[in-house]
Amino acid sequence: MHSSFIRLLSSIVVATGLLQVQAATYTLSTSYIGEDFLSGDFTFFTSPDPTDGRVTYVDQATATAGNLTFATDDVFILRADDTTVLTASDPGRNSVRLTSVATYGSPSAMVLDIAHMPEGCGTWPAFWTFGSNWPTDGEIDILEGVDNQNFNQATLHTGPDCTMAASRAQTGTILNNDCAAADDGNDGCGVQFAPGTFGPTFNSGGGGWFGMERTVDAISIWYWARDATNVPVGVADGNSEVITDNWGTPVAFFPTSSTCDLATEFTAHNIVINLTFCGVFAGVTSIWDDSCAASTGVADCNDFVDANPAAFSNAYFEINAVRVYE
Ligand SMILES: *[C@@H]1O[C@H](CO)[C@@H](O)[C@H](O)[C@H]1NC(C)=O
Ligand SMILES: *[C@@H]1O[C@H](CO)[C@@H](O)[C@H](O)[C@H]1NC(C)=O
Repeated sequence: MHSSFIRLLSSIVVATGLLQVQAATYTLSTSYIGEDFLSGDFTFFTSPDPTDGRVTYVDQATATAGNLTFATDDVFILRADDTTVLTASDPGRNSVRLTSVATYGSPSAMVLDIAHMPEGCGTWPAFWTFGSNWPTDGEIDILEGVDNQNFNQATLHTGPDCTMAASRAQTGTILNNDCAAADDGNDGCGVQFAPGTFGPTFNSGGGGWFGMERTVDAISIWYWARDATNVPVGVADGNSEVITDNWGTPVAFFPTSSTCDLATEFTAHNIVINLTFCGVFAGVTSIWDDSCAASTGVADCNDFVDANPAAFSNAYFEINAVRVYE
């Protein structure tokens, strides 16, 4: 090849590379660390659980008194009550659901640095985002799972007009491609992560980082374990800039297409951190039977949650940081 042609070629490659980098470089706009979670940036949701969980979401005063929320300068803990035996007439185990005051739209990126997540039979923890009108403003579940499962699942829930292609550039395993909340009992379009991304195995490794990017072109979710060797620059250190182009192939990838226009399906979202019990996920008979009926010796999730407070001593989030980049 002529050297002038090679020079031309390499200048095109460089120029294209620069454009891509600029398009996916984000600047830190909010850090939630330690006491930030308790000083007005989040509100305490105290209504009955919309998903029929065996839970009572408490207000901030009750959470503080019971040490269900606890913060230092650099760590935030959110946990459920692990001392009270409940009777059948109680509505459920005390726990906490937080909602961010701020909303974040597209384009933006988020890094969750989590050292420990709630684990154990009956637990259903989640870290997710949603808009003010559910489901038409969209829901993005970044971290979610139940009982003693060892895999995370990431899911979108939307209005009626959103389905995903069966083949996408992601490393996770498709559970369902229909994102519409009205279909399939609101399963949403879920993607299952590899073992070790959730529950006891996640916790024993010291947790890790979840990354999420949303643009009008795609919603992408990543995971890196605490000891992973491929944690992208900026993610572990909470840098003031992250470049999502360097984050590799996502575990879950939900692109805009002719069957789902993300720009109309997803508005600006609040962040939610919640821990519920049983309900329409952890308490579903088939799921409970698979992962917990034998080990607990109890046939029903609600009965187990009522009678065994000490089983929830590890049902806590320990969050190092939530960083939002815009
Ligand atoms: C907890 O989070 C999940 C999202 O993963 C949501 O579907 C569920 O409704 C939440 N539970 C409550 C009580 O808000
Ligand atoms: C509250 O919880 C934190 C974190 O688990 C713990 O370090 C602290 O000792 C607890 N405080 C009380 C009064 O139990």
